[in-house]
Amino acid sequence: MTTTLLKCLLLHTVTSLEEFIWKHFSNKTFVIISSSFDNFEPLTPIIHSYHSKVITTSRNAPNLGTFTNYIIVGKEPNDLISSIDVLKYKINTRGRYLVIIEKNCTDDAYKSVFETLWSAYIYNVVLYANLTTFVTWYPYHAHSHCGTVVNMVISQNPYNNKIPKKYDGCPVNVTWDVIDLAIKTPFNRTDPGYIIRLLDTVAGNLNLSIIYLKEAIPYIALAHLSGTYDDLKREMVTKNIDLSIVTSGSSKLFEPELDITHFFLEECIFFALPPRRKIRLGISILLIFSSEIWGLILISIWQDFEKV
Ligand SMILES: *[C@@H]1O[C@H](CO)[C@@H](O)[C@H](O)[C@H]1NC(C)=O
Ligand SMILES: *[C@@H]1O[C@H](CO)[C@@H](O)[C@H](O)[C@H]1NC(C)=O
Ligand SMILES: *[C@@H]1O[C@H](CO)[C@@H](O)[C@H](O)[C@H]1NC(C)=O
Ligand SMILES: *[C@@H]1O[C@H](CO)[C@@H](O)[C@H](O)[C@H]1NC(C)=O
Ligand SMILES: *[C@@H]1O[C@H](CO)[C@@H](O)[C@H](O)[C@H]1NC(C)=O
Ligand SMILES: *[C@@H]1O[C@H](CO)[C@@H](O)[C@H](O)[C@H]1NC(C)=O
Repeated sequence: MTTTLLKCLLLHTVTSLEEFIWKHFSNKTFVIISSSFDNFEPLTPIIHSYHSKVITTSRNAPNLGTFTNYIIVGKEPNDLISSIDVLKYKINTRGRYLVIIEKNCTDDAYKSVFETLWSAYIYNVVLYANLTTFVTWYPYHAHSHCGTVVNMVISQNPYNNKIPKKYDGCPVNVTWDVIDLAIKTPFNRTDPGYIIRLLDTVAGNLNLSIIYLKEAIPYIALAHLSGTYDDLKREMVTKNIDLSIVTSGSSKLFEPELDITHFFLEECIFFALPPRRKIRLGISILLIFSSEIWGLILISIWQDFEKV
């Protein structure tokens, strides 16, 4: 009796994991990343299914940035920290992620998993909690207080609508440097430069509050002198900057630490995001976010530009 019950439970678990993958990854190739591949029963049918997939350990992962669906498996929440640390420049942060932790965990531990991925700009995450329930969170929902609080929910369409249209005035720190006509000074309302005007318009439409750094260093000139954007990187980390505006013919100056957008308009002008953070070990520490907010908002900015 007990074994039958156990089998039923197991069967149910497995089926729903498979159903989830069919439903939400449609028929696209997905990536399974695990710190190790010792026998983990719920995954077996997925690994042996006909679905096209790439299977790798995090440590030996090749560049996986072209994929959009990922399953990350860990024995416990802390495994995710080291996995994400080695994967962060090899994966598509805008993809759909399913995280499976082998052990049952407390809600705080699950929240720390979402935070771990969020700190690497990965926001579209569903967690298979206790191997029974699919939970997610909405970083930009008012309940998440601009991404500082994880509010776990169960949703029928857990990957949809992660990027909202409005941000309830969430703050964004921006550093800037003079770029010809593009940026003169954000503090002159009548003539700030066209990039500042554009940014302010987009921020207004999204209801974001942009805070321009008052004493910004001349990081573009410094980069021309030294050949790297190291001064900017340092500045962004120490002053909690979410976004900077840079110009350069070569993305080599930034890589791999600063994420930059494609240049826009006819100029070589980019947005740059701060280096991804080191994640502190220990699941009981709930990280406080700020910088990560920006990666996502950029996407909205782009969506807005594309509409224009
Ligand atoms: C997979 O999806 C593509 C479009 O996304 C569709 O054209 C194709 O027929 C699908 N294949 C299968 C086997 O469902
Ligand atoms: C998972 O199980 C633990 C107890 O083992 C419980 O505290 C927690 O709320 C459960 N989480 C979810 C999301 O079901
Ligand atoms: C994990 O949690 C699920 C759902 O709460 C429960 O059915 C299962 O027995 C738990 N497993 C362990 C090993 O505690
Ligand atoms: C922006 O969000 C804040 C906080 O939710 C709200 O009070 C304000 O009315 C919003 N502004 C606009 C223009 O929607
Ligand atoms: C703003 O810029 C315009 C044009 O460059 C200039 O005439 C004006 O004095 C500036 N305003 C302030 C407050 O600096
Ligand atoms: C903006 O910068 C200030 C000063 O460095 C910092 O206190 C604040 O937390 C930052 N704001 C955000 C949203 O990161």
